[in-house]
Amino acid sequence: MRRHLLDTTEFNKDELHALIALGREMKANPAAFRTGLAGKNIVTLFEKQSLRTRVTFDIGINRLGGHAVYLDQQNGAMGQRESVKDFAANLSRWCDGIVARVFDHKTLQGLREHATVPVVNSLCNLYHPCQALADFMTIAENYDDLSKVKLAYLGDGNNVAHSLLITGAIFGTDVTVVSPKGSGPDAQIFNLAADLARKTGAKLAVTDNCDDIRGFDVAYTDTWVSIGDNTPMEAVIDKFMPYQINQALLDSTGIRHVLHCQPAHRELEITSEVMDGPASLIMDEAENRMHIQNAILYTLINQA
Ligand code: NVA
Repeated sequence: MRRHLLDTTEFNKDELHALIALGREMKANPAAFRTGLAGKNIVTLFEKQSLRTRVTFDIGINRLGGHAVYLDQQNGAMGQRESVKDFAANLSRWCDGIVARVFDHKTLQGLREHATVPVVNSLCNLYHPCQALADFMTIAENYDDLSKVKLAYLGDGNNVAHSLLITGAIFGTDVTVVSPKGSGPDAQIFNLAADLARKTGAKLAVTDNCDDIRGFDVAYTDTWVSIGDNTPMEAVIDKFMPYQINQALLDSTGIRHVLHCQPAHRELEITSEVMDGPASLIMDEAENRMHIQNAILYTLINQA
């Protein structure tokens, strides 16, 4: 069966652990994987801006002996010049995998329906699964048992928060989202994560109170305004500032490690003191995007 990664619900706990183990193996022993995607061509499509995603897929694929073709869609959403169906059908005749960053999750569903090669979501309005897997790989490098970790996500209940909730639920990691009222995660996605959590015992919660994350292990944040949202940052600063990750928050909660998917807005969702300080795992996390994505592509394309 051809498999895709539109969100992490498509993999079970053992499979996600295997992806993380493979990502860690690729990081530790790159020479063993130099031909892992030899002769394979992968299209990376972008409707939205990117630094980490573009570079980590491009360089990562090259490290496995494959070839990445970058398609710049920043002038318009897919489906405008030609249908998503035709896009998927044409690309499938030439390439071995499609990685897509899109405005609307439905575009990914269309690609999956009409492509005959694996499709990987490299960010959409609802999910950011490659990021969440890089995050859990980074946590796994620092904690032996993901099911004993308590992760607090502070800020906007966005695509990143959704993927952390779902992936945490599958791994059995407790995840609390701390957001101002009205900016929490999508209720349907939270309920989907809560269903998964019932199987693993993960405790999931949404709160607007930073006192609720005392004793947690890891704090995570992301921009308060995601790509595609035209709200000016100035309009949301007062609402989100109480949820900034700063040294006082680390001191009051006892949280030892900090993650951020980046791009970071220093002195807004996170202070430079914390981002550049000893609690920060943020650059490991950025590096791990490449390793986990390589593990994902290697697994999906070689299985296809
Ligand atoms: N929530 C952010 C993540 C960027 C990596 C966005 O969608 O813009």
